[in-house]
Amino acid sequence: MCGIIGYVGKNEAAPIILDGLKRLEYRGYDSAGIALYKDGRFHVVKQKGRLEALRAAVGDTPLAGRIGIGHTRWATHGEPSDVNSHPHLGAKSRIAIVHNGIIENYRALRAFLESKGVVFSSETDSETVAQLAEYYYRGDLMDTVVKVVNAIEGYYALGFMCLDEPDRLIAVKKDNPLIVGVSKDGNFIASDVPAILSHTNQVCYLADREIVVLDADGVAFYNMDRERLEKSPETITWSLGSAEKGGYEHFMYKEIMEQPRVLRDTIRSALPDGSNAAVLDSLDVASFDKILITACGSAYNAGSVGKYVFESLCRIPVDVDLASEFRYRDALIDARTLVILISQSGETTDSIAAMREAKSKGAKVLAIVNVVGSTISREADYTVYTLAGPEIAVATTKAFSAQLALLYLIAVRFARALGKLTAPEAEALVGEISELPTHVEALFAQIDRVQYYATTCFNSKSIFFIGRNIDYAIAMEGSLKLKEISYIHSEAYAGGELKHGTISLIEDNTLVVAISCCKRLAPKIESNIVQVVSRGARVLLITNDGANPGAGLETGTGAESAAEEAAGARQFTLTEPTVNELFSPSLSVVLLQLFSYYVAANKGCDIDKPRNLAKSVTVE
Ligand code: AGP
Ligand code: GLU
Repeated sequence: MCGIIGYVGKNEAAPIILDGLKRLEYRGYDSAGIALYKDGRFHVVKQKGRLEALRAAVGDTPLAGRIGIGHTRWATHGEPSDVNSHPHLGAKSRIAIVHNGIIENYRALRAFLESKGVVFSSETDSETVAQLAEYYYRGDLMDTVVKVVNAIEGYYALGFMCLDEPDRLIAVKKDNPLIVGVSKDGNFIASDVPAILSHTNQVCYLADREIVVLDADGVAFYNMDRERLEKSPETITWSLGSAEKGGYEHFMYKEIMEQPRVLRDTIRSALPDGSNAAVLDSLDVASFDKILITACGSAYNAGSVGKYVFESLCRIPVDVDLASEFRYRDALIDARTLVILISQSGETTDSIAAMREAKSKGAKVLAIVNVVGSTISREADYTVYTLAGPEIAVATTKAFSAQLALLYLIAVRFARALGKLTAPEAEALVGEISELPTHVEALFAQIDRVQYYATTCFNSKSIFFIGRNIDYAIAMEGSLKLKEISYIHSEAYAGGELKHGTISLIEDNTLVVAISCCKRLAPKIESNIVQVVSRGARVLLITNDGANPGAGLETGTGAESAAEEAAGARQFTLTEPTVNELFSPSLSVVLLQLFSYYVAANKGCDIDKPRNLAKSVTVE
């Protein structure tokens, strides 16, 4: 959500900033802009729409300068438009800013400034920061930034430039991400590492309300009392190659295909001597009598799977809560509650707030995070990492799979520590989890069938997903994946719940995706299938040989099953290897991801950057 990049150094800034914005595109945006300083004034180009539009506009306006800031905006206050795009300038064009986040008290600040005669040019909350900075400026930009931070409420990552101090950039953040890159040729601020990784792998992380001052020769950090802080850069160990498409048409497809590798790495990390082992060993499991899992979106769906696994293996009560709800519901938790917080980005505003709420009530927070150095990873009591590498497609796939794998292994560990599993039982379960990457590889043999079937249903207006228990949990992720990238309306229902109302929506040819991978529940879901088919639905059944003996693992194009379906069976089946039912979501989800991908591809959707969505949701 919104991307910021700033550069000051020996090279021309425009190409560096435009390239950085390109690499931040995955975060989601609706407009973009750039401001450079040269020869006593700011040169600003801003444009609604994709970066190509900005590039084209910059092409017409030769932009030179060795210091500048750029921004991709995900509008919160004021429609996406050229004038509302960032950077914003103060009325005297002496200070330029970029902002990610929301200034919650902008109305009051704007009214105050307007009463002093300041004329605003946009509808945004962010322009208030530029105007306020000019209003406060008395020859010292750092002093101005401190005053601005003391006056604004909300959350922000902010980059500042000033005509009177043309050799320096200043940045500050609260709750929203901002990193600092250092190199001998120049220094950077950015919302995320990929924006600067082609220039440097030396990165410092800003904490809330810390200020960084950058010039061509170095960076210096200060607290709000303007006292110097010492920070040493950390080395980023992954390469830009892992954030590139590698020959695939979409990042989402590449990331789906990476899942066997990601699962292997993540599983290894939680085994003895793995990179997550020490943190997990340090948890005193017996000191908790309840687990609460909280997260947003897909991470919440992973938590819903986790509930079944933890309750089944550990026999400990588990609640799952949306972070945006949990933060305001005064939940009954205390020091005997372990809160498991799941987040790919580690920067989701609602999840950060949930973590702080849990800690304020004395609960301990175990975070499962993908982005190293993110806010959640730094503030949680315990952090374990999914080893998914950079995930660029907005719709999560590999990070979700890695979250599931960690949840399984943590549950097995806890169950063992609580004496609910014997050592051989735990070992057997770890063995089954370790087989999952190979089973996912086997699933790829079904790709042609998924692709074929997607061509028969991409015109659907509405698609329903059903499952029971853990299959219902993964049905929710299937439904979310489909709607976010294909824009087809979809809902996930517990199989037994459909008849209590929703079945009235089933009409001729409505597609119902039924997930049935639990042997003991297979007859129940079969009844639900009969109920919808007899009302005209067609069914895509995702199952395994254990739940549906004889399902087999069909490969081929799917044309033969389609013929069968047309001949009246009304059912097309995708089969996955039979595994312990607690772990089958890891296989079902891959088929569901591929299904969504091909439906969206058939519709010609912008798969990696779906409309209205952002990769990291840093607003409430
Ligand atoms: C995933 O496909 C979604 N775009 C979204 O639901 C996401 O899972 C959610 O915003 C949580 O993000 P996080 O994992 O970075 O906290
Ligand atoms: N609230 C600001 C705006 O609407 C910044 C949004 C963002 O983070 O992109 O312009």
